[in-house]
Amino acid sequence: MVTDANAFSDDVRQIDGGTNPTRFARGWHCLGLAKTFHDGRPHQIDAFGTSLVVFESADGTLNTLDAYCRHMGGNLAQGTIKGDGIACPFHDWRWGGDGKCLNIPYSRRVPRTARTQAWPTLERNGLVFIWNDPRRRPPPESVDIPVLDAYGSSEWTDWSWNSLLVEGTNCRELIDNVVDMAHFFYVHLVKPTFFKNVFEKHVASQFMSATGRPDIELDSNYGQEGLLMESSATYYGPAYMVNGQTLASGGAASEGLLINCHYPVTPNSFVLQWGAIAKKNEGMSDDEASAMATQFADSLGDAFMQDVEIWRNKTRVDNPLLCEEDGPVYQLRRWYEQFYVDEDDIVPEMVNRFEFEVDLHTAQSKWDVEMTANMAAAKQAPAGV
Ligand code: FES
Ligand SMILES: [Fe+2]
Repeated sequence: MVTDANAFSDDVRQIDGGTNPTRFARGWHCLGLAKTFHDGRPHQIDAFGTSLVVFESADGTLNTLDAYCRHMGGNLAQGTIKGDGIACPFHDWRWGGDGKCLNIPYSRRVPRTARTQAWPTLERNGLVFIWNDPRRRPPPESVDIPVLDAYGSSEWTDWSWNSLLVEGTNCRELIDNVVDMAHFFYVHLVKPTFFKNVFEKHVASQFMSATGRPDIELDSNYGQEGLLMESSATYYGPAYMVNGQTLASGGAASEGLLINCHYPVTPNSFVLQWGAIAKKNEGMSDDEASAMATQFADSLGDAFMQDVEIWRNKTRVDNPLLCEEDGPVYQLRRWYEQFYVDEDDIVPEMVNRFEFEVDLHTAQSKWDVEMTANMAAAKQAPAGV
């Protein structure tokens, strides 16, 4: 006899999986460390459902074009930089950073229509960014990438940088992290003690204080007993987050600026990049400071691996079922939608100021009970088990 009366009941919450968006976010996307691209060679970047080439012209500026040559489809990323342009490997047509064909070495004239897609390219904070707008409008000044005063100052290190191709996942999963308070305890193994979000215009912030979990033994930064973490993380646009972090433990404190950024490759994959610079503490050698930046970046990398493991096995949910302690997932997604519509179609709900602080009283007391129980159980377990 069938006993599962609920199987077809209306009371069962159904997941609305939705579908991945067919367009890519409008905004600045970081491609990585600028110095990578200043090596005199063209670089292929697979992004926004196509292939691009990034190259440095003779004056030292970085340029981005569609990789496929408008002549007969040669791949410019396999070509050679010649003066101000990039030469296609197929028939040597030369393309300038503005997308115009500069010269066809074997022809009398360049056809009037010889123009390819140029992508606005920006170098800032030692990083390179390109602007995506499906309508091909230039970036408005109001969405500029802020200058980081710390970068390039003698008190801070250079970037420690990493990247990873995440497949089978739309980048919205990464954005959800901004509001997902509870996963920090269960996935990243820290206990949030304060959690607040603020969204306004193209900017979304997460302010979090957290402590390490003494019931978890980890060899990452965040697992230290007595660790206090202050984090202030802000997305500027859809894909570039700056995260100021202070970690204090046993009387010592370290301060880092971390970047979490990505660019979509297809609607179902993206390149995740992260990096850190660290503030040199007094008496610290440059090597020690660099090691600290690496440690910040590695800790963030470890956290991303924890997220990636979840993403690999989860499904897309357009109608998440939330409890009171969850952060403002729907409001965040509303904010994120502004990047998937034309600028003219942005509505006030996407960009109006919104603030929300999660009430952590219940969560904290329940987590304290859970951690105490975990530690008692660990003590009773025979050694080596
Ligand atoms: S395909 Fe590029 S020059 Fe012919
Ligand atoms: Fe996460």
